[in-house]
Amino acid sequence: MANPDPDAAESAGEINIGHVTLIAAAAAMGGFLFGYDSSVINGAVPAIEEAFNVGDAVTGLTVSAALLGSAVGALIAGALADRFGRIRVMQLAGLLFGISAIGSAVPFAVWDLALWRVVGGTAIGIASVIAPTYIAEVSPPAYRGRLASLQQLAIVLGIAISQLVNFVLAAAAGGSASNEMGPLQAWQWMLGVELVPALLYLLLSVVIPESPRYLVRAGREDRARSVLAEVEGGDVEYRIREIHNALGRETKARLSDITGKFGLLPIVWIGMALSAFQQLVGINVIFYYSASLWQSVGVQESNSLLLSLFTSIVNIIGTFIAIGLVDKIGRKPLLLVGSAGMAVALGTTAFAFSHASVSGGTAQLPFAWGAVALTSASTFVLFFALSWGVVVWVLLGEMFPLRVRAAAMAVATATQWVANWLVTATFPSLRDWSLPGTYLIYTVFAVVSFFFVWRFVAETKGKTLESMGREERTSA
Ligand code: GLC
Repeated sequence: MANPDPDAAESAGEINIGHVTLIAAAAAMGGFLFGYDSSVINGAVPAIEEAFNVGDAVTGLTVSAALLGSAVGALIAGALADRFGRIRVMQLAGLLFGISAIGSAVPFAVWDLALWRVVGGTAIGIASVIAPTYIAEVSPPAYRGRLASLQQLAIVLGIAISQLVNFVLAAAAGGSASNEMGPLQAWQWMLGVELVPALLYLLLSVVIPESPRYLVRAGREDRARSVLAEVEGGDVEYRIREIHNALGRETKARLSDITGKFGLLPIVWIGMALSAFQQLVGINVIFYYSASLWQSVGVQESNSLLLSLFTSIVNIIGTFIAIGLVDKIGRKPLLLVGSAGMAVALGTTAFAFSHASVSGGTAQLPFAWGAVALTSASTFVLFFALSWGVVVWVLLGEMFPLRVRAAAMAVATATQWVANWLVTATFPSLRDWSLPGTYLIYTVFAVVSFFFVWRFVAETKGKTLESMGREERTSA
């Protein structure tokens, strides 16, 4: 939300620094674990294939099993949070993260590993809905847009730290995730180390206050008053009235709220499509599989882990660019520039991969084409990060009318996880079929996403959330 209205800006002036830190920390831990948990598997994939002696299809299922858990987590998080409170749900996610870290570090079979990954995945799904919900509820309007971007920043930091941990652990084990380090192999440590951020998340969820909006809704207005006084200061009674006002226009997350002439309301379809395109361009192939991707064209394991780290730093840089631009040039132009840039970069990557030759069972990419592939894959990540990565999360938070927001957010976020699952589960088999062919498919999605945005996405920069409700009412 750019250009907030003067009232909002005024009340934002009262904000105290402790409040912002609090929201930032909550956003950071939820997003951080989202990024960390979903991409830590990257460095472990080749070692898992070796440890359990399984093929690509089984690996694809193991890596992606977590994401189906995430879809379920995203669908149930809103309802759970309305019933038990935001904090209780964060604690549940923290617990699940912790248990899954321990379980997946010492699996006795590949299906056991998949099971623990599903438990962790459910936690990610919950975090992916609860973090933006909590941020939106406890931040003053004028700050909401920037704070929404903060979640993506935390996600990309989580990704980068997981790649750093993978690289350091493999290096300490003598260059490979399959090597022993004490009682475990390095890949087991990679998965187990997640216990640390999981415990931090749990700890944080014990100290941060419950959302005042939830408290008012649950009839605990006195507690809401003291939380507001403590974290926001200013006119507490005014804020309580504001919350009552907003709650009057809100409904529970019911599926019947989001249905219209076309099965679902048009705006919900658009949210789901944005989520799907964000994944179908294949971004997470880079973050979950780049280590084995680079190895499949002849790069050594330790170098491939370094390349993955490099890519996640590019991702962070792109995210900062997006945060700087999202309120200035707007959501739609950013998405269009992103789609165009991604299409060119993905097409170039496909072309580069078509120069790989297979000898003695392993593929090799001539050095020059390897350099082109690396450059274009990094350019793809840069364009994704400065556009679709940030903008889709910002849009999901602001594009739906309040009346349907909770249900629409759940459905759109779950769609994102299902699309993520589809891409991740099919990648190993697609890669075996044809790496350039696979990248051509992602290129096509980038091209189609451009025209989709062009035709169906309305600019939301500078508009109030209420006016989006009005648009929906006139179009539905
Ligand atoms: C977005 C996507 C997520 C992806 C990340 C990469 O947050 O939703 O799936 O891993 O960007 O930066």
